[in-house]
Amino acid sequence: MSQSTGKVLFEMKGIGKTFPGVKALEGVNLTVREGQVHALLGENGAGKSTLIKILSGAYTKDEGQIFLEGKPVEIRNPQDAEAFGISTIYQEFNLARNLTVAENIFLGHLPRKGLSIDWAHVKQRSREILDMLGVTFSVDTPTSSLSVAEQQLVEIAKSLNRKTRLLIMDEPSAVLSEKDLEKLYEVVRSLQARGIGIIYITHRMKEIFLLADEVTVLKDGRYVDTRSIANVTMDELVKLMIGRELKDVYPKRDPAPGDMLLEVKNVSRSKLVHDVSFNLRAGEIVGFAGITGSGRTELVRSIFGADPYSGEMRIAGKPYKPHSPADAIKHGIALVTEDRKAQGLLLKLNVTINTTISGLKQLSRYGVIQLAKELVLVKKFIQELRIKTPGPEFIVVNMSGGNQQKVVLARWLSIGTRIFIMDEPTRGIDIGSKSEIYQIMDDLTKQGVGIIMISSELPEVLGMSDRIMVMREGTIVKELSRAEASEETVMNYAVGSQSGANLAHA
Ligand SMILES: Nc1ncnc2c1ncn2[C@@H]1O[C@H](COP(=O)(O)OP(=O)(O)OP(=O)(O)O)[C@@H](O)[C@H]1O
Ligand SMILES: [Mg+2]
Repeated sequence: MSQSTGKVLFEMKGIGKTFPGVKALEGVNLTVREGQVHALLGENGAGKSTLIKILSGAYTKDEGQIFLEGKPVEIRNPQDAEAFGISTIYQEFNLARNLTVAENIFLGHLPRKGLSIDWAHVKQRSREILDMLGVTFSVDTPTSSLSVAEQQLVEIAKSLNRKTRLLIMDEPSAVLSEKDLEKLYEVVRSLQARGIGIIYITHRMKEIFLLADEVTVLKDGRYVDTRSIANVTMDELVKLMIGRELKDVYPKRDPAPGDMLLEVKNVSRSKLVHDVSFNLRAGEIVGFAGITGSGRTELVRSIFGADPYSGEMRIAGKPYKPHSPADAIKHGIALVTEDRKAQGLLLKLNVTINTTISGLKQLSRYGVIQLAKELVLVKKFIQELRIKTPGPEFIVVNMSGGNQQKVVLARWLSIGTRIFIMDEPTRGIDIGSKSEIYQIMDDLTKQGVGIIMISSELPEVLGMSDRIMVMREGTIVKELSRAEASEETVMNYAVGSQSGANLAHA
């Protein structure tokens, strides 16, 4: 059912916002109706997060007007937004990890009964909200012991406790694996049925057609168009978003496996990884599929020397026993992960330093960094990866999420790695840049690099892998060739039951 005609809840008109050196938004319009899922689409750095931060009171606008049910309103801070019934779920959750679920749901709003807090009410009401969301964990659970998907549900519960009329979700599915997506979609639809308006930001194009009623596209901080989902195709959306047609997202792979790069034999790690064996040849992309907790990340952390393990490994035929990531890097292995902070992105420093810090040796002569050479290299990466930044001197913390991820890739590319381990390499990256990263991966393999890719996005696993290892409960349960693999077969092995077939379309 399309909700393009309901009562208008919030309207943003002619919104403008400038940061030093960056015009982040100019003339942007957005209208959200009651009970509508409104998708917000645009490339990395297009201004999506900035726009919703203006609505949630995190930033103030420089230009334009906001209307609530037709009346002009000013949102000066998060308290104003809350008073208007606006709740936001950011990518980095705002949960207090040492508190329980119920305490988090009521954080900052604990009801009093006389001089003390009315805990009975807190727990009862929390339970009611969780039941409404179809959640079974106890309200007394410490938040720190919940999975990411569960923490997200607590965030949603928190907003429901506050009479939310407009819920803003900034890339909610980026942190979830395939298995948890259905639950999120179910919750979004149930909120919609209660008349809540939802702004949904995503880089997963399929979701827009699964969930949204309308979609607004931004490009370079400017308003492009608003379309009803019924009247737009995926190709049209991509074109509106990246300004050109995107023929093939995935490169046509023509793998020619060469020398043996990495052999992994009977590798185990306490309870997390059991008896894993596989190998990787030059020129290959081996994809690892599986649900959260299947042991993929744990396995590659051992290969990268970050965690202890038992078993045997060889690189180019020689025994390889990494004691630390530094050790692994010396052997030509790189680990690219989705967690930008954990992989040592120096957020307060600029693009140049972040790109070249690991490869300073190559750029140095007699210990002196050759600045000109460094600048050429950084500019090359900015161009090749289409990193959106005013220049090499821009501070990374002010870049959009997807562009930060590109800086991480640039860093590894700059040091001439032979074995790339990529753990969710394109999470949070827009479809245009994704296809560029896939192209880079393809090019790398042509130069003799081998790539191990972990991904929870099945289209990506199927589109890029020459061979697919499906992991479940710490072990490889199936190896599939590219020809044998479909979303359904992969999911079935990943969850080990028939239920996989129902998840595969997500
Ligand atoms: N606090 C800030 N200071 C300076 N520039 C900023 C700041 N916040 C955002 N920007 C810039 O504004 C532009 C829009 O960023 P924004 O985070 O809104 O993009 P986005 O569409 O959410 O991208 P992504 O899909 O990568 O999350 C970018 O060029 C970004 O670098
Ligand atoms: Mg963003």
